[in-house]
Amino acid sequence: MLKSHTCGELRAEHIGQEVKLAGWVNRRRDYGSLVFVDLRDRWGVTQVVVDAGRSPEAKETVARIGHEYVLQIEGEVVARSPESVNDKLATGEIEIQARQVRILNPAKTPPFEISGDIEPGEETRMRWRYLDLRRERMQRNIILRHNAIWFIRRYLNERGFVEIETPILFKSTPEGARDYLVPSRVHPGKFYALPQSPQQLKQLLMVAGYEKYFQIARCFRDEDQRGDRQPEFTQLDMEMSFVERDDVLDLIESLMTAMIEEVSGRGVAKKPFPRLSYAEVIDRFGTDRPDIRFGLELTDIGKIVARSDFKVFTSTIEVGNKVRAIVAPNCAGYSRKDIADLEEIVKDAGAKGLATIAVQEDGTPKSSIAKFFADDLMQELIAAVGASPGDLILMVADVPSVVNEALSALRTEFGKRLNLVANGDLSFCWVIDFPLFEWNADEDRWDPSHHMFTSPKPEHVALLDTDPGKVLSQQYDLVCNGYEVAGGSIRIHDRNVQEKIFALIGLDVEQAKERFGHMLEAFEYGAPPHGGIAPGIDRLVMLMAGEPNIREVIAFPKSQRAADLMAGAPSEVDQQQLDDLHIKLADDIKPD
Ligand code: AMO
Ligand code: AMP
Repeated sequence: MLKSHTCGELRAEHIGQEVKLAGWVNRRRDYGSLVFVDLRDRWGVTQVVVDAGRSPEAKETVARIGHEYVLQIEGEVVARSPESVNDKLATGEIEIQARQVRILNPAKTPPFEISGDIEPGEETRMRWRYLDLRRERMQRNIILRHNAIWFIRRYLNERGFVEIETPILFKSTPEGARDYLVPSRVHPGKFYALPQSPQQLKQLLMVAGYEKYFQIARCFRDEDQRGDRQPEFTQLDMEMSFVERDDVLDLIESLMTAMIEEVSGRGVAKKPFPRLSYAEVIDRFGTDRPDIRFGLELTDIGKIVARSDFKVFTSTIEVGNKVRAIVAPNCAGYSRKDIADLEEIVKDAGAKGLATIAVQEDGTPKSSIAKFFADDLMQELIAAVGASPGDLILMVADVPSVVNEALSALRTEFGKRLNLVANGDLSFCWVIDFPLFEWNADEDRWDPSHHMFTSPKPEHVALLDTDPGKVLSQQYDLVCNGYEVAGGSIRIHDRNVQEKIFALIGLDVEQAKERFGHMLEAFEYGAPPHGGIAPGIDRLVMLMAGEPNIREVIAFPKSQRAADLMAGAPSEVDQQQLDDLHIKLADDIKPD
């Protein structure tokens, strides 16, 4: 080894020892006959002193070095003088008196300072990702991720789970996104699809009798990017046989709690995790991934505003849509500009407008729509939403999905603005009892809310024939601080039920056979009742690290436009490669 110790390791107890360190130049301070070099590796920083009097050769070498040079230092661990002890540095009691300095490799001046306080721009970071990954924040995140994965493997291994790899070149496994396709050279005109998840394969592993499976699985989905989505991401994919819903929930709850407490040092806010029905979370929070760290819940005010003269509201109620409200405490003083900013948020969610009432200190309302309300009706409204003097009531009228999305977005905004989410704890809840289907008006058919292998509640199977919209499923989602961090379900293991679901989502028998024939066939050879779940590793590590997006916890993420800015992927390929794959590009492709 070129080093005897790491740069984070040496303490007072090592004083007097001869050591070899190797790493990168974090900083260099030149005081003429004395040069200080802070040497950095993944474990920390150690100060090296080069004294021209003691080792002229070493002094000559450090005169030539710059930031990020790779050095090897040999010397003695010595105590720092009391006034130069650095409490902020783990190695701050000591320094190395260099006898020899070797340049293992010089470095060009990096495009940004690795140890600086200034955060480089996102594009620069992605372009020079290997340098970005040297930064302390990134090293902390990547190592946290390693610790989380290592914890998971140990935890599940101890409980009888088997880790099994499944193919990346496979058939389309839809999870609601577009597939990434890989053309086959050997089978002209045919394609593999990269799995959106190992869903089918893990169910087949249950038919195969493995009973407890997991995998740290890479999944691929071609969908619009945002902060918590990447085109390729990692799931802790799991499946178990002979389980019921609560077995899966209990296992994941213990795993999450133990992992978070051990690897991140954060607390879990509510134990056991609250279990809320889909209907309840939509009603209270307007979303199926509620941040339950704070209140600011939604109130339905349809019955009250129906008696006003405000046409926007009365006409909304007349056609069966919704008017709902949230209350922002102590925000009655908001200016027109403040309200206009909030209106942008609801408009992004598809709402047409945002009506507000400021409850003044004397209890009277200040609002452009107050004139449409009789005084006692206004007081009834203020009481119904639970507003106090000084509060601001925010109301949206629209179809239910728009109202909920708009108010949920406002609620999230106020959670941040009013500092209701500051304590660093992770607050989980389960969302259960989802509807099995969502109506797809464009295609005139039912879409699965989760995926097509999710089982209806046993007592709802009969409704599949009469009223599919009312069928609740055995799906469960785990939500943490407003993010969906896991999704899963008890599966269908009965071929008849599975065929019925295929029919409802518009797959006829032939199509279903072509796409999922292997599944249907497998179900005829003794499929055990089974269920599973897939926590998203990137999102969990993001939350444990306290980062705002998952790019911060992925070594080599893609940009918002699904590109790798460092290597330049995707890229054009040789004509020969295209020919081999039997691919002809359209004439009108414009390079971007
Ligand atoms: P689902 O589609 O809900 O379920 O995905 C499970 C979890 O994976 C994470 N996730 C993502 N993370 C980053 N980028 C993405 N593009 C992305 N998409 C999903 C989320 C999500 O909760 N096969 C089922 C699981 C099952 O039924 O067992 C599935 O994939 O954290
Ligand atoms: P108007 O009568 O169009 O001037 O609107 C009066 C107030 O109602 C304005 O603050 C609008 O933003 C608001 N408003 C308009 N449409 C809606 C809606 N669908 N939901 C809530 N508020 C609305």
